[in-house]
Amino acid sequence: MKDVKIVLLGYMGSGKTTVGRIVANHLNIKFLDLDAYIEQREDMSVSSIFKEKGEIYFRKKEIEYLIEIFLNESSFVLSLGGGTPCFGDNMNVINEKTANSFYLNVGISELKERLVKEKNHRPMISHLQDNELTEFIGKHLFERSFFYNKAHQKVKSDNNSPTEIAEVIINSLV
Ligand code: S3P
Repeated sequence: MKDVKIVLLGYMGSGKTTVGRIVANHLNIKFLDLDAYIEQREDMSVSSIFKEKGEIYFRKKEIEYLIEIFLNESSFVLSLGGGTPCFGDNMNVINEKTANSFYLNVGISELKERLVKEKNHRPMISHLQDNELTEFIGKHLFERSFFYNKAHQKVKSDNNSPTEIAEVIINSLV
């Protein structure tokens, strides 16, 4: 089988990790989560990296490890962090390295429902009150959509189960 390198991207809470694991299982290839990879290599949680070293350091490491993964691994499903596509030239770098980048597109109200329960360990939103989340996500997603929309394919992911989304991705591979 030829190498298949699948990249999943989208906002926090869009299901990148859950869907990514299912896709990798079905195809019997490795699953990688960029946040988990960074945590392992840096021996620190993402929250601690943000707190102790700052966001700029984290963003530098994100692209460094992303390139490392593409160099060292053959077939994989890689779930990015929500911000990975939105810094530097990252989205162009990704699309040059694979023809299979997928944007898991989830709307603002569904994202809010998902994120309100788990905002504390997410450094981008942990400082917000629950009633500020919808407005924050709306603006943030608007800014980020420009980058997310550079993905080769977009998968509407509001109402479908992770298994259904995984199936759409598997059937759309090029
Ligand atoms: C971030 C999303 C997180 C993680 C970091 C920054 C962002 O990943 O990389 O907290 O900027 O949206 P998930 O999308 O996997 O939560």
